[in-house]
Amino acid sequence: MSTSLIQRFWDVFRREGLRSCWARCMGACGYKRLYLLSRSLHEPLPETRAKIPVHMDWLRPEDEADYEALLTTARDWPLTRRQGAGNRCLTARVDGRLVSVMWACMGKAARIDYLAQDLPLAAHEAYLCGAYTEPAFRGHGIAPAMSVELLRRLREEGITRAIRATWPENTAALRAHAKAGFQPFALMGRVQIGRWGRSFTRPAGPANA
Ligand SMILES: CC(C)(COP(=O)(O)OP(=O)(O)OC[C@H]1O[C@@H](n2cnc3c(N)ncnc32)[C@H](O)[C@@H]1OP(=O)(O)O)[C@@H](O)C(=O)NCCC(=O)NCCS
Repeated sequence: MSTSLIQRFWDVFRREGLRSCWARCMGACGYKRLYLLSRSLHEPLPETRAKIPVHMDWLRPEDEADYEALLTTARDWPLTRRQGAGNRCLTARVDGRLVSVMWACMGKAARIDYLAQDLPLAAHEAYLCGAYTEPAFRGHGIAPAMSVELLRRLREEGITRAIRATWPENTAALRAHAKAGFQPFALMGRVQIGRWGRSFTRPAGPANA
């Protein structure tokens, strides 16, 4: 294994855990899939609060350096790619320090980079992505509190359904998103062997992960 490969493995292990490393290995072998989760905004939002005081606000231009520092190893979520029309980022700070971010994307479709596929969106739907909490601040309920705050803001803009995607192995994300009312409804993926490839979407369930 080259040094950069070991470093990359370590980066992923440190920020996402062993199960995500496994999912990435399968992806590298040609089998990629994600759970699609959704949540109706017609349902009441839970009173989910972080266990420590956090201040939430939209990402501002002056936050850019803090954002890049927070996501220094998260190559998948570069700021410039997300800053398109209709996309916005909610931030959470603890004592002024940026510790967590979460994106909402709107438009005709959301790009799922991992699968190299577009997920069609209706006008009343938003796609949430790029959830990231600094490792030292995980387990304090910051991500679920941010989801609820983001959903509240989106609902005020007329959004009635939110969708997001995550690896079936990412139990931390599944637990965090469940606290905000998200449940898996489909498994979306792609099998690629050489030049042959096939995409699929099927109902989510334990037998389908
Ligand atoms: C997924 C993620 C955003 C959750 O953020 P969070 O602010 O820690 O959310 P929560 O506090 O609700 O913790 C969720 C789960 O993480 C796990 N967890 C708890 N403490 C943890 C810690 N110190 N380190 C790692 N995970 C921890 C627990 O399973 C927890 O669920 P529980 O509270 O029901 O036991 C965060 O783990 C993260 O940034 N992961 C890497 C990026 C990623 O996978 N993003 C999701 C893409 S869909």
